[in-house]
Amino acid sequence: MTDRKKIVFATNNAHKLEELRQIMGDQYQVLSLADINCHEDIPETAPNIEGNARIKAEYVKQHYGYDCFSDDTGLEIDALGGEPGVMSARYGGVAHDSERNIDKVLRLMADVPLERRTAHFRTAICLIRDGEEHLFEGRVDGHILTERHGTGGFGYDSIFRPIEGDGRTFAQMSGEEKNAISHRGRAVAALTAFLRQE
Ligand code: IMP
Repeated sequence: MTDRKKIVFATNNAHKLEELRQIMGDQYQVLSLADINCHEDIPETAPNIEGNARIKAEYVKQHYGYDCFSDDTGLEIDALGGEPGVMSARYGGVAHDSERNIDKVLRLMADVPLERRTAHFRTAICLIRDGEEHLFEGRVDGHILTERHGTGGFGYDSIFRPIEGDGRTFAQMSGEEKNAISHRGRAVAALTAFLRQE
């Protein structure tokens, strides 16, 4: 396994790192920000997920010199006009507090009937390699449930039921099942297809 190529994934999110290692682990040794000794909180100030993905990848390239990729994800709920979108991580007012984020979504949607609870996750991945930037995108459509179901996954997984599934939320699926249809799984598939062409 030592001859796998190294690639930096500009994240310290253990769940995402684990997902990416499951998907790309055969081909690449995926390094986290901690693995390259980057402990800064890289500011995500762009108005959209593509811009935020680019900021993080450019930061790592500029300060650490590694080729790398970074991702940014938003949950876009139609009944909330596309929110939380770029605010997904801090929608409830506290960064990375998923319980508050979910509570706010459920509260705002308390009166919305199931047929209008449509939503999608969108992931943008920015790869910087050999001085060039490449963008990849993945999307999954589904519904926001009225209460939490399941304990796996992270973020909004327990209230998101993908259309392509069998009625379970992402939080009720195994990592493999989620990766096969998820926003990030699809964006990463586009990334790895690109890397394999080389
Ligand atoms: P990030 O840009 O990937 O860090 O995602 C921003 C926020 O979106 C996270 O803090 C989570 O709340 C949510 N999120 C991202 N990916 C997922 C996922 O796969 N399932 C559920 N929530 C997610």
